[in-house]
Amino acid sequence: MAGVTLKGVQKRFDKTVVIKDLDLEIKDQEFMVLVGPSGCGKSTALRMIAGLEEITGGTIAIGDRVVNDLPPKDRDIAMVFQSYALYPHMTVRENLEFGLRIRKMPPADIDKLVNHAAQMLGIDHLLDRKPRELSGGQRQRVAVGRAIVRQPSVFLFDEPLSNLDAKLRVQMRAEIAKLQQRLKTTTIYVTHDQVEAMTMGQRVAVLKDGDLKQVGTPMELYDHPANLFVASFIGTPPMNFIAATIADGGATLAASKYTLPVPASLRPVTAKNAGRRVMVGVRPENILEAGVDTRGETAALTVEVEIAEPLGNEVVVHGRVGDDLLVAKLDPHHVPGLGDKVNLVIELDSLHLFDAETEQRLG
Ligand SMILES: Nc1ncnc2c1ncn2[C@@H]1O[C@H](COP(=O)(O)OP(=O)(O)O)[C@@H](O)[C@H]1O
Ligand SMILES: [Mg+2]
Repeated sequence: MAGVTLKGVQKRFDKTVVIKDLDLEIKDQEFMVLVGPSGCGKSTALRMIAGLEEITGGTIAIGDRVVNDLPPKDRDIAMVFQSYALYPHMTVRENLEFGLRIRKMPPADIDKLVNHAAQMLGIDHLLDRKPRELSGGQRQRVAVGRAIVRQPSVFLFDEPLSNLDAKLRVQMRAEIAKLQQRLKTTTIYVTHDQVEAMTMGQRVAVLKDGDLKQVGTPMELYDHPANLFVASFIGTPPMNFIAATIADGGATLAASKYTLPVPASLRPVTAKNAGRRVMVGVRPENILEAGVDTRGETAALTVEVEIAEPLGNEVVVHGRVGDDLLVAKLDPHHVPGLGDKVNLVIELDSLHLFDAETEQRLG
């Protein structure tokens, strides 16, 4: 077992800087998710940890060993790819055994490891099949099994569930998380899917354009996004943003056509930033129908409905107020029609404030 430490890690392809200066510490036994939009450098970061890509600056350590110059096979890691990368001409059993055979493990030990992993993953009845005779989900299990039997210090996963259908993805997500809790092997898991990141990661590192924007537990990212990017990336439907100015010495937030009062809980922040242009963030789940139970101080506002999306357990309402389009998650008992005026309340204590220029969180 071992932690993984990245210090000042940089990656350049010719003149293009893909990873600028990445500091990240993954603790021993931790499940860390790297999440960010496509092209932000997630796979590159993972491949550098695996040794499949050279680093152009900084150091990577696995345990207390700097591995910058170690070839992949000596890093004690096992990687699972989106493409599964199984050997097509080998049976499932041979695929699982392969890495152990080339390391000359005694056959009795190989048998034990393979049978145990196959059982854990529920693929013991498939051991004599070839990959082409398996479903996508079964192939993915074999790929995971191949990583497990090697008993590495670190698992690296690169979007392993992207090729599966939505339902299977949810199921495998839970299975991989459970498996990791059982094995306690340090894991770095890459995905572009924020729901996957939030549900699987003990901690989540959010990347954008090769920059680490924030690292924290899922609830830390949700409750205290450090900047506008993380605020907009985490949560579905995404957080609403209202351009406003902190007015009246910090007592109000003045949007283009309406004003929100600042609750007592946020006054220390707004008092220090009076006159500043801000983006006010409010999550759809903190905008409720007038009359329902709310928490803390609230403000009333009326929206004109542009779209209502009934999802069964809730209805997602897109409504206009002033120049702003606000999305709210409402109780589904009544689905408003296009153009309806709906009275809503905002839970003011859950507002997030970001500097309009720097995009950093205030307070
Ligand atoms: N071998 C390469 N040569 C040049 N550019 C590359 C190479 N590999 C990746 N890139 C670039 O690096 C950026 C990050 O890629 P990648 O790490 O694959 O992103 P992600 O996995 O987050 O989608 C992209 O802009 C990609 O085009
Ligand atoms: Mg990738």
